[in-house]
Amino acid sequence: MDRRSFLKTSSIIMGGLASTTLLNQAIAETKSPLVLDAQHPLLLNFNENSLGMSPKAKDAVVAALPNSFRYPDSARAELITAIGQQYALSDKHVSLGNGSSETIQAAIAMLAAQAQKQNINFQLVTPDPTFNYAELYSIPLGGKITKVPLKEDLTFDLQKMEQLANEFDGLSIIYICNPNNPTAMITPASELAKWISHASEKQFFILDEAYAEYVEDPKFTTAIELVKQGHKNLIVTRTFSKIFAIAGLRVGYGIANPEVIAAIDAFLSIDNTNTAGAVAALASLKDKPFIAYSLKSNNLSRKIVETALNELGITYAPSQANFLFHKVKGDVKTYQQRMADAHVMVGREFPPALGWSRLTLGTPEEMEQFVIILKQFREKGWV
Ligand SMILES: Cc1ncc(COP(=O)(O)O)c(C=O)c1O
Repeated sequence: MDRRSFLKTSSIIMGGLASTTLLNQAIAETKSPLVLDAQHPLLLNFNENSLGMSPKAKDAVVAALPNSFRYPDSARAELITAIGQQYALSDKHVSLGNGSSETIQAAIAMLAAQAQKQNINFQLVTPDPTFNYAELYSIPLGGKITKVPLKEDLTFDLQKMEQLANEFDGLSIIYICNPNNPTAMITPASELAKWISHASEKQFFILDEAYAEYVEDPKFTTAIELVKQGHKNLIVTRTFSKIFAIAGLRVGYGIANPEVIAAIDAFLSIDNTNTAGAVAALASLKDKPFIAYSLKSNNLSRKIVETALNELGITYAPSQANFLFHKVKGDVKTYQQRMADAHVMVGREFPPALGWSRLTLGTPEEMEQFVIILKQFREKGWV
């Protein structure tokens, strides 16, 4: 596809995919294949947003460069205020991170230190599989890792998680990724609110909402609502790496009660957000048309993939994020290698969910190309 047709597709996405006709037209217009080779593979393995950042974010970075010999205090302060305002919360409810990974790391370090002060152990209660940074940060701090396998339908076994937290003689950090990575499935707000609002004092929740901006299922509600209700036993983490497409600039944040934020901030690197990241994040947050474009593009990409998977009779989990978890015939490593040989990098297997592959949703034209290759695999009997 030439750039002109791609922009045409993009403008359809921008204008709103109100009808199936428009959607089909957009899919039809993404037909011509991209040229893939070892230098130009399709990167569908790390849940990045291959649309790239908002043009306004790029302009903001360029405009901020001449003054970047100064420390980033004012850019950070402006971003904190804008994030707080977005949720009708104060600056004190917001903690910036060098990506949300750092916020997760600092939350765990703060809680581990709290446990140490009280002379008690701590454990991380985590679904399995899920995003594993909370686990990776807990291990060196001596935390016990308590993994609770997903249920057969790939949902969280919250009852089991709660039981294991209640039985633990010490502090339990409960990590909930919503939507979950790698399944892209949501956990309904009602189920979480029940536990969080009556949890024991020795339980603290990290709600990782890295993909929340992609969710359209009304059963999902952000746990920021629980922070607003005054609950002090949780932090919600968000990122600019996904829908806002600035993963390389490393900006994320946490939302919690001011007391929690102050405690976590003590474990963060001071000035952890650089000027380029802060101004890009601020511009992205304000660029509502870009956010809508990013969402619609992702929805179109998902539709392209789902249509093909349905056609091929391949099972997949209901995705509410910028990736999709689907079944693979035979060994996942072999499938991954065959895709890599075709210059398409797809996600790995996530034990104990065996036989599934996580596919990042790239641009619609990238996903059309993926579908062509997937169909070739079917002809060869590989999927
Ligand atoms: C669920 C989840 N949380 C957090 C992150 C890390 O995001 P960040 O780039 O903000 O550190 C990722 C990255 O893939 C993720 O999947």
